[in-house]
Amino acid sequence: MSSEAQITDILPENYRFLQAHIYSQVGIVLEDNKHYLFESRLAPIVQQFSLGSINDLCALMLAKRDPKIGQQVVEAMTTNETYFYRDPGQYDAIRTVLLPKLMEERKSTRKMRFWSAASSTGQEAYSLAMLLLNEGLKDWNIQILGTDFSSKVVERARTGVYQQLEVNRGLPAAQLLKYFRRSGLEWQLTEPVRRMAQFETIDLRKCLRTLGPFDLVFCRNVMIYFDNKTKLNIMKELHGTMFRGGWLLLGSTEAAFGLEDWFERKTFGNVTVFVAR
Ligand SMILES: C[S@@+](CC[C@H](N)C(=O)[O-])C[C@H]1O[C@@H](n2cnc3c(N)ncnc32)[C@H](O)[C@@H]1O
Repeated sequence: MSSEAQITDILPENYRFLQAHIYSQVGIVLEDNKHYLFESRLAPIVQQFSLGSINDLCALMLAKRDPKIGQQVVEAMTTNETYFYRDPGQYDAIRTVLLPKLMEERKSTRKMRFWSAASSTGQEAYSLAMLLLNEGLKDWNIQILGTDFSSKVVERARTGVYQQLEVNRGLPAAQLLKYFRRSGLEWQLTEPVRRMAQFETIDLRKCLRTLGPFDLVFCRNVMIYFDNKTKLNIMKELHGTMFRGGWLLLGSTEAAFGLEDWFERKTFGNVTVFVAR
């Protein structure tokens, strides 16, 4: 057997152990056909601990019960894919429909609160911050909260530093020049953008109500990983964090179901928005 084959070996009982571990820690359902995902994501951890195989990693997790190793395995198995202005139609709808309404309703307090739930490395929260600055809201009291289960991505989001490849994805060149400064081979977001967003580590399966109230909640490209029970609980909690009339935006490919009691579905062009009842 080649050494590579040994590294990626997973006994059926260990596969079940890993599935149960990920589900209990973060709520993500990894089906029985995800061997390739476990293999590619866990092999680097096996090497890091100088172990022989994923089976050895499971044995270490069981023996040590070290939460740090458990967390590292969970973080390796979560997908953090994100980019600036993902689903641009949603940002257009915010700019043309939600913002004019909020600016009128809030002209006395000049305060707005937004939440990027499952924010990953921060591009979603910062895209919104740049959009708001572009719309002339510099002197308003704006708070954008970004949260994610993974402390690793939260720490990265806080730095506001992005690689060339990351700023090449979705970000208009004019905004790169306006809101970023070069820092070696990377790009650093400028202070006015960074101070609009704060990032915290939060598990979406926990009680969320104390975080609100928000005018807009992004919860995009994360629900797909949960089972129906978890999805419904999270939707209910998200609703509890929102102003009446506030917007919930899901990923453009994510279907919502059973939300009629809490949200009214509205469409603007080809963008679907869930308006809190
Ligand atoms: C694919 S990214 C989506 C990023 C961004 N919302 C977007 O659409 O571009 C999914 C994120 O969900 C986070 N996540 C997964 N399970 C979570 C949970 N139970 N609570 C909070 N965040 C979670 C992952 O850590 C990951 O960063």
